[in-house]
Amino acid sequence: MTDLQGIVEEIHARLSPRCGEGRVADYIPQLAHVDPKKFGIAVVTVDGAVHLAGDADEAFSIQSISKVFTLTLALGKHGEAIWKRVGREPSGSAFNSIVQLEHEGGIPRNPFINAGAIAITDLVLAGHTPKEAIGEIVRFLRYLADEDDIIIDQAVARSEQATGFRNFALANFMRSFGKLDHAAELVLGVYFHQCALAMSCRQLAKAGLFLANSGTNPLTGHRVVSHLRARRINALMLTCGHYDGSGDFAYRVGLPGKSGVGGGILAVAPGKASVAVWSPGLNENGNSLIGSLALEMLAARTGWSVFGA
Ligand code: DON
Repeated sequence: MTDLQGIVEEIHARLSPRCGEGRVADYIPQLAHVDPKKFGIAVVTVDGAVHLAGDADEAFSIQSISKVFTLTLALGKHGEAIWKRVGREPSGSAFNSIVQLEHEGGIPRNPFINAGAIAITDLVLAGHTPKEAIGEIVRFLRYLADEDDIIIDQAVARSEQATGFRNFALANFMRSFGKLDHAAELVLGVYFHQCALAMSCRQLAKAGLFLANSGTNPLTGHRVVSHLRARRINALMLTCGHYDGSGDFAYRVGLPGKSGVGGGILAVAPGKASVAVWSPGLNENGNSLIGSLALEMLAARTGWSVFGA
């Protein structure tokens, strides 16, 4: 039997000396205050075992990882109709790029680049006030993780609200093509709050477990999405979850994954486990440098790559 706890502790011990490598995101001023040496790993298997190392119980800003959960919510509300508003192709561009939007008529390439996530949040907002939509997203995360103390870091949300000029540009650009139903201020009010959700590696791994178990959370028995939908969300995470670093992540790790500029990564080993890592230093694509290495080591030691052991 694989000694998962031993593996997780070994990876943590080996990489700890390198913590601090990479660049902490500072374009959202509040994120720059985080200790770059933080490092946590959580592995939650589909049979309910939890393996932790390092700062796995400390909450951090999940940022773009929230896009997996708002995509799940939007699919639940609008079904396959969401694909009229956003594509399913890797962009090959930075997460906050605007260049393709003009050529492609205001339809973002995929739901994980910022433009695509903003379009998805616009759909989650349908029929709600921004406050209600934010409440729905927080409740959804609490339900998925089965944890009541998941909250939004209001200082991070305010910090991005004050400086998110690119996101305002993306939203207004899409609105100019008639591809956003609500005003940029309203959609981004929700988007900045979803990105500011604060969760620990343990909570995040638990929240993602439905994706590793064909749509049902094995810890609670809640059927979150169908088998088919879980498979499709995983496919999008694999092809688009690390932006223009998605190919490299698939090559090195071989698991569906979603990164955030807070330094977190959620990875899914279908049929096996949900994994969350956190280390704030980022690589050139805006993905956690040490977090990616930790997942590469985990996949190598467990044989969990979806491309074969
Ligand atoms: O919109 C932004 O720029 C941030 N709230 C989220 C970006 C992000 O996490 C990109 N991921 N690596």
